[in-house]
Amino acid sequence: MAKIQIAMKVNGKPVEALVEPRTLLIHFLREQLNLTGPHIGCDTSHCGACTIDLDGKSVKSCTVFAAQADGSEILTIEGIAGADGTLHALQEGFREMHGLQCGFCTPGMITRAYRLLQENANPSEAEIRFGIAGNLCRCTGYQNIVKAIQYAAAKLSGRPLQEAAE
Ligand code: FES
Ligand code: FES
Repeated sequence: MAKIQIAMKVNGKPVEALVEPRTLLIHFLREQLNLTGPHIGCDTSHCGACTIDLDGKSVKSCTVFAAQADGSEILTIEGIAGADGTLHALQEGFREMHGLQCGFCTPGMITRAYRLLQENANPSEAEIRFGIAGNLCRCTGYQNIVKAIQYAAAKLSGRPLQEAAE
């Protein structure tokens, strides 16, 4: 199959590549760019493990062709921490509040929460739960994920932490 040339910015770095028209963005990121943080949990747009940020929107990268992302700006979990390796408040929150168990959902969950906090810096517990409704976690029961996002929201806006009720 004839390949097509695409160019985009991924985690702040320009990227150019040849892809088959049928290549999904998640496969391009994982297999051609070696960005294996975004996971494949279902391949059918249900689980959210493949969530990335594409031009300022949370996107399930198994639902997009790499060719459709031509000219876009992409952020994956690999680009969330500071350039010096300092954890983002969300990463710190997931660690501090025990927001993960197996960790399979975590890259997508954090990347989704990153955009959620850009859209709403002070979300209620209900807004957090609604905001991550497209990201499934089979381990945690979500309570500590909500707490982790509340931790990050508070830290990023300099407010005292008000945790979700048990
Ligand atoms: S792998 Fe994309 S939503 Fe599950
Ligand atoms: S921590 Fe295991 S799926 Fe979420």
